[in-house]
Amino acid sequence: MIYRIRQFIQGLLAKITKEDIKFIEKYLNKEEIELFKKLRVSEQYHSLYVAYGCKSKFADDITLIRAALLHDIGKIESNLTLINKSIVVICIKLHFKKDILPKFIQKSLYYKNHHPQIGYNILFNMNIEDDVLYLVKNHHNEYCISSKALETLKYYDDMY
Ligand SMILES: [Fe+2]
Repeated sequence: MIYRIRQFIQGLLAKITKEDIKFIEKYLNKEEIELFKKLRVSEQYHSLYVAYGCKSKFADDITLIRAALLHDIGKIESNLTLINKSIVVICIKLHFKKDILPKFIQKSLYYKNHHPQIGYNILFNMNIEDDVLYLVKNHHNEYCISSKALETLKYYDDMY
């Protein structure tokens, strides 16, 4: 719960600095940056901090850092605003049936559940390297045979 409140406040205060942009430009190409910028600022901020965390652990793992920046790219078309995200979390906690939820929350729920696969599809069509695709697709998969990179991505994804 405290994590969720912290994430909400972080999202409200999210700001991308010049240093952040330099960091993004180091790891993503122009086309990928254009895509990244389509994320909400709060999602950009989250992805950046996940990437900073991954870099602090494995500074030379370019694949991991790229995957961290791109892991939530499947949320681009979503309506997962900070408020909707909070409503979805509450609905899941209370085990509400999908059918009784308003349409806009059904949409948010869809993106919450499917954004790894949606992101994978977007990035696959851009010929992104397989190792990045694997991490993006499985960053919420509890049953995936894990690797150090995937564990690290999940760890910092949960932290920020
Ligand atoms: Fe995610």
